[in-house]
Amino acid sequence: MKTIDELLAEGVAGKRVFVRADLNVPLDGTTITDDGRIRAVLPTVKALADAGARVIVASHLGRPKGAPDPAFSLAPAAARLGELLEGPSGEVAFATDTVGDSARATVDGLADGGVAVLENLRFNAGETAKDDAERGAFADQLAALADVYVGDGFGAVHRKHASVYDLPARLPHAAGYLITTEVGVLKKLTEDVKRPYVVVLGGAKVSDKLAVIDELLGKADRLLIGGGMAYTFLKAKGYEVGISLLQEDQIPVVTEYMERAEKNGVELVLPVDVLASTDFPDLKTKAPAEYITVDADKIPSDQEGLDIGPKTRELYASKVADAETVFWNGPLGVFEHPDYAGGTREIAQALVESKAFTVVGGGDSAAAVRTLGFDENAFGHISTGGGASLEYLEGKTLPGLAALED
Ligand code: 3PG
Repeated sequence: MKTIDELLAEGVAGKRVFVRADLNVPLDGTTITDDGRIRAVLPTVKALADAGARVIVASHLGRPKGAPDPAFSLAPAAARLGELLEGPSGEVAFATDTVGDSARATVDGLADGGVAVLENLRFNAGETAKDDAERGAFADQLAALADVYVGDGFGAVHRKHASVYDLPARLPHAAGYLITTEVGVLKKLTEDVKRPYVVVLGGAKVSDKLAVIDELLGKADRLLIGGGMAYTFLKAKGYEVGISLLQEDQIPVVTEYMERAEKNGVELVLPVDVLASTDFPDLKTKAPAEYITVDADKIPSDQEGLDIGPKTRELYASKVADAETVFWNGPLGVFEHPDYAGGTREIAQALVESKAFTVVGGGDSAAAVRTLGFDENAFGHISTGGGASLEYLEGKTLPGLAALED
């Protein structure tokens, strides 16, 4: 994989460099609530601009349906990138389409060292098309805008999309700083991992995590389960879970995992108590919630578990305390509401206090760490890719990394 430093050494002055970033930031209207992914691509954009390249930054945002949709515009992200590059935001040009007149004119207007952002790549159906020819046709149009490709959208490398997979095959290409860093960290979790290796998994759906659990049952020493996915495990253990999130169809798989964990000597740890309520909290008003704290085998039939309870928090913190390596993906409860943020906060705190190499895997857990006010530097690494890092740990070949290999 050619690195960006090698590319810079060859010289990029005057060249149009297409940077595939992941600017898929959470938005409240047009307000960015966590700009971590924009900050993560700054080293690459700055290095290219400082070397005199004409930098074209492109990304997806959300999941629009292959046509322009103002709710998913990248305009706020482009403005924020401009602010972070420390010039007036107007200095980052913004194209209001992906490969049309605006994109061509914007790229033509770039001076050496200038930066432009294209509109959301998913406004073009070719970006995510299953059909190779359709994706290829969009990649051809993107390729016409640039001379060189730099892959730095780590959060999207698990997607076989035109700008991630097909475009690098059409241009000389290199990996940006973010991708190099992320892959370096994930290697530490897969090759010669320091033990005890503890993995904390949360999030709503157990089905999203099955493949990684399957793989980790042969790799990790301890698996701590929380979030909505825990209730399928609790049910599989024979507990009643009231109206908690449950994926009934996954019970046989989860049962087999619990048996395999026992056979392999992997400690699979489930919540021993939870905060439960008859109502899901109001995440907009954040009005105080009414809940009870109950043991995990005594959830009333009309209540749903919304966070891990105090005994579980203490138990999980003790399981993290002597770890040498910790990977954490997924919130332990509905952290967006202050009454149910405690489990996620205490796990984050346990990571901060541990002397282990700690990795927070993307998406919601990375956002949780930042919105709960933790210092990012207190963790070994905060990944920008939730799905991508999970698929890497599953041992899958990631299209966006494979495309940069050759
Ligand atoms: C993410 O948020 O995980 C990445 O930006 C990928 O987004 P996607 O799941 O919509 O492809």
